[in-house]
This record gives sequence, C-alpha cells and structure tokens, in this order.
Amino acid sequence: METPQKTTPMMRQYGEIKDNYPETILFFRMGDFYEMFFEDAQAASKIMGIALTSRGDGVPMCGIPYHAYQPYLMKLIRAGKNVAICEQLEDPATAKGIVKRGVVRVVTPGTILEDEGLNSASNNFVAVLWTEKEQIFAAVADISTGQIFLEKCTPANINDITGRWKPAEVISHKEIEGLNRPVSVIDASFGTDTARRRVLEHYSAASEKSLGIDGEGYLKAIALLLTYTKNLMLDVKLKYPVTLAPENRLHLDSIAVKTLELVENSQDGSERNTLFSVLNFCRTSMGARLLKNWLRYPLRSKESILRRLEIVEYLSTQSELRGALFDALSTVYDMERITARLLAGRCSPRDLVWLKSSVVSFPKIKEMLLSAANPHLSETGETFNALEGIYSVIDAAIVDEPPLNIKEGGIIREGYDKNVDELKALRKDSRTHLLRIETEEKKKTGISTLKVKYNKVFGYYIEISKSNLDRVPEYYDRKQTLVNAERFTIPELKELETKLVYAEERLGELEYALFTQVRDTLANYSEMIRASAETVSEIDCLSSLAEAAVRNRYTRPQIGAFEEMDIREGRHPVVEKNITDNYVPNDLYLNSDDSRMAVITGPNMAGKSTYLRMTALVALMAHTGSFVPAAEAKIPLLDRIFTRVGASDNLAGGESTFMVEMTETANILHNATDKSLIILDEIGRGTSTFDGISIAWSVAEYILERLKAKTLFATHYHELTDIPSSIRGAVNLTTEVREWNDEVIFMRRVIRGTADRSYGIHVAKLAGLPDYVINRGYEVLSKLEKNEFGTDGTPKLSQSKIRQEKVVQQMLIFEDSPALDELRSMDINNMTPVEALNTLARLKKISEK
Ligand SMILES: Nc1ncnc2c1ncn2[C@@H]1O[C@H](COP(=O)(O)OP(=O)(O)O)[C@@H](O)[C@H]1O
Ligand SMILES: [Mg+2]
Repeated sequence: METPQKTTPMMRQYGEIKDNYPETILFFRMGDFYEMFFEDAQAASKIMGIALTSRGDGVPMCGIPYHAYQPYLMKLIRAGKNVAICEQLEDPATAKGIVKRGVVRVVTPGTILEDEGLNSASNNFVAVLWTEKEQIFAAVADISTGQIFLEKCTPANINDITGRWKPAEVISHKEIEGLNRPVSVIDASFGTDTARRRVLEHYSAASEKSLGIDGEGYLKAIALLLTYTKNLMLDVKLKYPVTLAPENRLHLDSIAVKTLELVENSQDGSERNTLFSVLNFCRTSMGARLLKNWLRYPLRSKESILRRLEIVEYLSTQSELRGALFDALSTVYDMERITARLLAGRCSPRDLVWLKSSVVSFPKIKEMLLSAANPHLSETGETFNALEGIYSVIDAAIVDEPPLNIKEGGIIREGYDKNVDELKALRKDSRTHLLRIETEEKKKTGISTLKVKYNKVFGYYIEISKSNLDRVPEYYDRKQTLVNAERFTIPELKELETKLVYAEERLGELEYALFTQVRDTLANYSEMIRASAETVSEIDCLSSLAEAAVRNRYTRPQIGAFEEMDIREGRHPVVEKNITDNYVPNDLYLNSDDSRMAVITGPNMAGKSTYLRMTALVALMAHTGSFVPAAEAKIPLLDRIFTRVGASDNLAGGESTFMVEMTETANILHNATDKSLIILDEIGRGTSTFDGISIAWSVAEYILERLKAKTLFATHYHELTDIPSSIRGAVNLTTEVREWNDEVIFMRRVIRGTADRSYGIHVAKLAGLPDYVINRGYEVLSKLEKNEFGTDGTPKLSQSKIRQEKVVQQMLIFEDSPALDELRSMDINNMTPVEALNTLARLKKISEK
C-alpha cells in the first residue's frame, strides 16, 4: 500500500505497522474500535458486509467494535484472509503523545483457536510442505488441537495430501509446482541443525528418534511450522507427531476419498449421505473428528485392525455398557481444543468450567473400562487417567458460571483466596453503606425523591430533581446539571467511591492473576489431559462403530494376509439407507489367480456403480476396524484403494475432461500393486467410442498382466466382455435385467455373464419421454446397429462377437415365415453338400419375397 505522506502522526504510525503486514488485513485499534484503512478497508468492508466510509482526508476506512469483533474476524478468515490485530499497548488516558500500538496476534485460516471460527466435528488443518531430495515432506497440523501428522509423497502426488486433509491453509518454503491450490511461501533459511534444535526444544526431547521423526525433511517441515506460528505470535505446544507410513496405513488417494464420499458428499460437500454419516454415533466432537481421520487413514496392520474389531464386537454385544458409556461421554466437551487454548494462554474461565464438566464422568468411564470383559478395554482402563486432580483444581478455584470476559472479575469461587473474599466483603459493605447514605440524606434534607446513583462517567452522585433544589444543603458539591435535575456529591460519598473503585480494580486484577495461576497449573498437566482426551475420543469412536454395527446390521469381517476377497450379500452402506425395503444384496468374489478382474457390463441405472463402490467401501470399512454391511466378508489386507470414475459419470467435478480422466488413470497404473484394489467405473468415456474402447482395453490388459491388482471394471462398452476370453484372470459379470410385459426390470443383482442389449431406450421410457420419441429411438437404434456391424471401422477385438450377433439379427428376419418352417424341418445330417446349397438358394428366394 502507499504509505500516506504529509499526514497525522497516527496515520504515520499506522503506515509503519502496516508495512510489516503487506498481505494481511490490519485491525488497527482506536478506542473502542478496530479500524481498517485504504485497500484493507475496501476489501474487508465488502467481505464483512459493513459500510465503507472515508476520513476527512479522503482515506477509505471502515471499523468494527472491538468487543464484538469475533464474527467479523471469522468472516475474513473464512474468505481466506489473514488478519493482524494491532492493539493499543498503553492506556490512552495516561499516554504522552500518541498511544503506543503493536500487533499482538496474526490470525490465519489454518491457525484459529477460537470455537467461533471452527467446525467442531472437523479438524482445521494447516499443511506444511517441505521439499527435499525430490520428495515432499508434509507436516499436517491442527493448531486448535495440537495434533500433527507426518507424511511424504512424490511431487507428482502432492494433491493427494491436500485432497485428503483438506487443509485450511498450505505453507511451504517455496512454490510447489502442480499443487492445485495456493500456498503461502514462508521465508525459511535454516539448515538441518537449526531445524533439529528448534524441534527438539519444542518437545523438550533429546533426539528426533525418540519423537519418531524419521527424515530431515520432516524436521524442517515442523521447524517451518514453529517459525510460522511464532511469526503469528501464537504459542503452540504440539502433540508428538504421528507418522503415516505406507507400511501401516491403507493408502487412499484424494480421488478415492472424494468418489467414495467418505466424509463429504459430492453434491454439496456436506456430511449428508457419506460413509461417515452412517457410522457416526459419536457423542463428542473429538470422537467425530477421530472417526473422520480413521476413515481417511484406514489401517494396514492386521494386529491393530483386530484390536479395533474385537472392541467393536464386544461393545456391540453389550448394549447396556454402550448406553452407559455414551451417557458418560455426552458431558465431555472439546478438551483437545480447550487444552490448545490453555497452552496458548488464550483460554477463558468458561473453558476451565467446560474442562471440569468434561472430566466429571471420567472416574465412571475408568470403572466401566476396568470391569469390561475385554482385555483391550480393561488394559485401556488401567492406563486411563481419570483426571480427578484436574477436577479439584478447577472446582476449588473457579465459580460454576463465570463470565466470558477474563477481566470482568466474578471468576474466583468464594473461599479460594482470602484477599478476594475480603475485597468482595468490602464491596458488599460499601453497597450497604451507599444505601445508608441515601436514607440518611433523605432524612437530613427532607427530600423523599433523593437518590444515590452511578454512571461510568461521573461515578457515584446524588440526584435531586429541579423542584427540590431549594432544599439542597450547603455541603453538597454540584457535579452536573440536567434539564430536570442536578447531580451532587458529598465528602462521605467521595470517600466511599474511592474505596469502591479501588476494591473493584484490585479485585479484577487479583481474580485475573489467580485465574492465570490456575491456567498455568493446568497447562503443566496438559500432556496428561491430552492423553485422557485421546483415550476418550477413541472409546467414543469405537462405541460409535459398535452402535452402527448393531443399528445397521453389520457383521464382523475376516481380515488377513490371504489372497481372496469374498463378500456375501454385501450392501452399499449409504445407498441401502436411502432404499428402504428392497435393497438387493450382492456377492463379490475376487482372488489373485483366475478372478483378479471382474468386467461388469449392464445397462445404465442397473446398479453397476453401486456394486463397485459397495466393494470398495466394505474393504475400506474392514481396514478401519468397523463391521461391514454384508452377511459375511473376507477381506485381504490391501495397500491401496484406487477409484476412477469416467468423465461423464463424474457428475460432481466440473473438470470432466478426458485429460483429467487419463491423468488419474496414469496415476493408478504407476502406483498400484498386486495388493491394491482398483475400481474403474466407465473409464474411457470422455472420448470417441473407438478411442475409449481401445484405451479401456489396454488399461485392463496392463492391470491384468503387469499389476495383478484386484480390479472391478464397469463399462458400457460391450466389446470389453471379450477380455476374459482373451486374457487370463478376468471374469464377466453383469447386472440382471428382466423383461416383463414390454417393461424392463432391473433386478440389481450382479451375476456371472454379459449383458446382451443396451436398455438405454427402455430407461428413457421409464423416465417418461414421449412415446413418439421412444418409438423413433428404436428405429434409429436399429439402423445404427446395422450400420455399425457393416462398417470397416468395427474394432477387431469385438469382431467374433459381432459376427455372432449378426446371425442372431438375421434370424429375426425369418420369424413367422415359411423359410423358418422349412429350416426347422430340415435334416442337415442326411444332406449332401449339393442338396444343402440348393436348399440355401431356395431359402434365400423365400426370404426375399
Ligand atoms: N443393490 C441395489 N439394490 C437396490 N437398488 C439399487 C442397488 N444398486 C443400485 N440401486 C439403485 O439403482 C440406482 C442406479 O444405480 P447405479 O449403480 O448408479 O447404476 P449404473 O452405474 O449401472 O448406472 C441407484 O441410484 C440406486 O437407487
Ligand atoms: Mg454408473
């Protein structure tokens, strides 16, 4: 911005501060307002929906009241802006010259701590990306909870990380090519040693090994995050990092997370109709967030999956225990976020009361865990800290319903501190004293309407109406004249006022000091609090999965290092909810031998996509430790799940171009292994038919012969049903369709075999297209079909198939004709070749009549 020339000292001060925050909206505190100027004012007023005004000298400005700034701040943050909050650093009343001002905090989308700016059931991540030796090391942190996850990827896959975590903010030490969202580049010229020192200092740890950090890139990413938060004047205390290594996680790329609609649907991005929505019975927002992360990051180690499955199984059989746990959990607040605020020195007295209410039920939870007849739960119970000490510290010091504002007083409980109690007594005494003054003065002056009153500007005064002014005594000292009354003070009142003001001030200070003492005491136990909060969220999550298992009639999957994937009567967990009574369960069988790939053909709307997604979701749920919607399911341990939905089927993405589709497919072909599950839904659709068929065919061939991944391939290209007869390892499946009274009925049952017709026009009829259009459609179709079978452009790979169908077509011509009768009566075995030729000639003649 242009620094104002020839201007007031205050605007010069503004300019100096603003110069340090060029890309940031500056909230400049002036009295009771935060003011914005110049471009800041123009941009912010629009976003906040407030009036843009201008100063006398024409400088655009806008302002918001400081005591209600939160909603405005959050509007800016949500619009992706960073905001620097600049306060008056000295009391304007006592300051000499211009008040000293300085920025006390910078708020960015990824570093909010206040509940107002956060969605309780979602994490708010900031992703820090560090490029080192052709790899990108990501530290994905939620500053509001202290969680931090480490993950690395190749530059080509960078969007997987941002796509999965959906960070509110991405920062890096340099621009990142190919990243599909903006990144803030932070100046970071530190070497490995500096990075290591910063990280170890932060964690008070001796070595990065003890923190489980493996790789200099990670060290630097964390160091960059710490530098960044420091620049924002934000005190953070991160939890130990969790490394998400491919060996122990089932990898989902961002497109799988999106197309499988795990935590956000593709219509409006909400939780409605997502896998999360059918599994979430969590009572705490911490549990809900954890569940989302479990779904985005399923497990890969059999042991850890079994642990969850065993707990879910136990809890699903114990409905009473589940109910009791849920009851106990329902009073637990967002302890993770409270703790983060506690550590940042930004928690309110109310946060402490919430923390207290949260731990009230902990002893009960501990007891329930200890007495559970499940070894995992009882072990958890043993290590679970019920935080009784935390409860007592808060309960002793803080009143039950403290005000939101820390400086208002009224925070400290009676009996906690002698000085506070004395001051409060003094305050109370003074009040009765005031009343006494009022009664006495009434008596002395004989003015019955005399009143002792208070306002902020004049303090305490005696008010006397105009009509009684003649009775005011000599020792009354006039303070103010109003239209109908005059205000006075007297020495006794003055003295009392001084005492009262002193008591108020002192009390405010003292209560604040005591509050911060309690806060700091609690902060010392933050690790303990965090550990217990983590356990509670996990229990919440597991109870939720158990509840989902019972309510949705799920069963425990078998999972292990075997080769077969065998799902009996599987259901799509979300679609089955929307189809109340006639959902058709389906079986699926794949192995690593002769059934590695299923090619699924069938008309539109017949249930192909649902079948594909059902398979991916059942496999994913099993890896999450959840029960699955199937009568029985045997799921092999997988390394990755890929899903690709062909361009025109991908309704959500506006980016439905063939190029995108092919880029995504390329990614699969580069990364899939024989332990992967690949879902291909109508790929090749975004281009011309022959191109599409050819690409789809060669992709299938590559997967079958080279990658050997388990694959479901839905296609409307009938030609691809030739794959199983040409390449070993594939089978044909189709969705069963029946015709009845000229109607087509989709049975939604997946069976072995191939679809033999396109029912597109039937579907159009079902959709209510006019009869004329439908009939004409059949006419055009039959012409097209004849044409296609006759041209040279017919793809070779489907030639045999087409020849067969040609015969079938011609047979239809004979229907109800004398030629057919003759054909039927023929005895071919006893014909000579010449006889046969003659008969053929005769038949031809008949047919031409
Ligand atoms: N197994 C099933 N049981 C009942 N209805 C189903 C089933 N599978 C799919 N459907 C219904 O059929 C509709 C179309 O399914 P979809 O999988 O999109 O078909 P396709 O991919 O073959 O065009 C779905 O929206 C759903 O309402
Ligand atoms: Mg489909």
